Amino acid sequence: MLTPSTQSLLLRHASRPAATYSAACLRQAIGGTQTRAFGIKTTLRVQEYISKAIKNDQAKEKPAHSDMQVTGPKPVVDTIFASMPPELRVPMFPEPIRDGIKDHKWGTNDLEALDIGVTKHRIPDRISDKIALWAVKSARRPTDIFFRNKYLHRSVMLEVVAAVPGMVGALIRHIRSLQGMRHDGGWIGHLLHEAENERMHLMTWMEIGKPVLWERALIATVQTGFFAVFSLLYMVSPRTAHRVVGYLEEEAVTSYTHFIKEIDAGRIENVPAPDVAIAYWNLEPNSTLRDVVLAVRADEALHRDTNHHFSDRIEARRESLFEDLDHSDGKPKIKY
Ligand SMILES: [Fe+2]
Ligand SMILES: [Fe+2]
Repeated sequence: MLTPSTQSLLLRHASRPAATYSAACLRQAIGGTQTRAFGIKTTLRVQEYISKAIKNDQAKEKPAHSDMQVTGPKPVVDTIFASMPPELRVPMFPEPIRDGIKDHKWGTNDLEALDIGVTKHRIPDRISDKIALWAVKSARRPTDIFFRNKYLHRSVMLEVVAAVPGMVGALIRHIRSLQGMRHDGGWIGHLLHEAENERMHLMTWMEIGKPVLWERALIATVQTGFFAVFSLLYMVSPRTAHRVVGYLEEEAVTSYTHFIKEIDAGRIENVPAPDVAIAYWNLEPNSTLRDVVLAVRADEALHRDTNHHFSDRIEARRESLFEDLDHSDGKPKIKY
């Protein structure tokens, strides 16, 4: 039986159209990396804006939207930039994954009071679950040997890998929805949000600890291999793939718990939290590295529960989250 908070998490995006995320990707491609987008001319929309800008320039007309306030970086090509709608000129800021983060500023006591189930473990009951657990435990050993107590670098490694499954799962479900011409069941948004959340963990750690070149090369190599293997696994058995992620997240919770113990023992300096973390988790301004680790660990616990639950849903043949929505209020049953 799901707790109300877990139900809330799983259903939070059920009403969010997948197209929102497609539009978001397009906006990010145009607004966030416009120089590269112009260089390779990847989207028709960018080309449309370029053509429009050239016409504006030739006619010496007042550029569209020039009277609107825009925040963001200085434009590289003023004319083209000014011709773009204002909402495309600013980056899209990622949303935190836990409910209530935006309700108030989060301090140490709030973060420590979160009931995340630090030692929670899903006992494997099928052969495939046991293999999934064995694979994750086996992958941990070389990581322990390689990084030992370098928890910041270990965290970079963890997040580079952990940001893969959500995106792979969303991509495959997206393609299956298209090819099968059927609704997805409301998972794609959750999986994309998970991938974005993991990437924010990575961006946070990169503000504090910088891996050296050979560490970066190793991490990138491991991630490439994981991407290939996980993609194959997801295509063959999404149920097992989500179970693997569930166990991976259990290990993430354990790693971040050790990280906190190292800080408490004084072996890792409890430096001020980077601005990106304070903004993303709505932390108090004087927050520290320890608070950030608490916030990240809470996210990992949520990923753990979500992925084990998704695996259970596939096994129970109740994939669609829309099945659980309450329609007693008479609202139309919408699936996408
Ligand atoms: Fe993470
Ligand atoms: Fe995670």
